[in-house]
Amino acid sequence: MKGNFLLELKGISKKFGGVTALQNVDLKLNYNEILAVVGDNGAGKSTLMKIISGAILQDSGKIIFEGKEVSIKKPQDSLSLGIQMCYQDLALIDCLNISNNLFLGREISEKILGVADILNIKKMRDLSIQHLKNLGIVVGNIYEKVRNLSGGQRQIIAISRTVYWSNKLIILDEPTAALGVKESKKVLDLIKTLKEKDISIIIISHNLQHVFSVAERVMVLRMGQNAGDRVIKEIDGDEVVKMITGAEFSGQELLG
Ligand SMILES: Nc1ncnc2c1ncn2[C@@H]1O[C@H](COP(=O)(O)OP(=O)(O)OP(=O)(O)O)[C@@H](O)[C@H]1O
Ligand SMILES: [Mg+2]
Repeated sequence: MKGNFLLELKGISKKFGGVTALQNVDLKLNYNEILAVVGDNGAGKSTLMKIISGAILQDSGKIIFEGKEVSIKKPQDSLSLGIQMCYQDLALIDCLNISNNLFLGREISEKILGVADILNIKKMRDLSIQHLKNLGIVVGNIYEKVRNLSGGQRQIIAISRTVYWSNKLIILDEPTAALGVKESKKVLDLIKTLKEKDISIIIISHNLQHVFSVAERVMVLRMGQNAGDRVIKEIDGDEVVKMITGAEFSGQELLG
């Protein structure tokens, strides 16, 4: 283990024109920890995660990974550190099958007669089946087109792909937002399996029930600033709602 934390962000700020998306935000992520990042719409959650994954560059602030300051300027930089983000819109290709989607953009090919590059379908299929099996995922047919899968199955394939190419930190932005109860549970179970495989996970979610069922710590952003960082076992939903809203009323009153 290098450094006390897998990831540390110090004083991250980001403006989009006149809009301050993040102001002096700190974050700490332990090795092999599931951290939930919560906050109201526009609180800056996705922006912060995009900075870690190299999709957006911060205006100021430091990123420390495994005890060393790193410069993340593009997705390739975070990928080579072992970090990958699974986006809200999933980015699967509907008309391709599961195996092709797992290897999207990184297809395995081989030279035939020393010239033509031919896709090695069988190798990709075998590796896909093995990888999904390692994560406890059973698929009927690895050649099933992704368009025929349910929302939950798609999410599971998208997360599995992320894990295939990254082994230290996975960032999930609202992985259960579009899913029903049963499918959400499968995705949350997969997140727990990832933790057993020594991976750290940051999950953004608006669903506090999901946060409480899977995360060990919760960090709250409010209007682009830190608004709390607590161990899940030591708080309840009302307290998280208070940190999110900054208000002194309870979750009950909010609903009422
Ligand atoms: N590319 C951009 N250009 C301009 N403003 C942006 C851009 N991305 C984010 N913002 C603004 O930055 C602020 C933070 O947005 P961000 O998407 O990070 O919030 P969020 O916490 O992920 O919200 P949500 O829960 O709705 O996904 C918002 O005011 C948003 O409008
Ligand atoms: Mg967002």
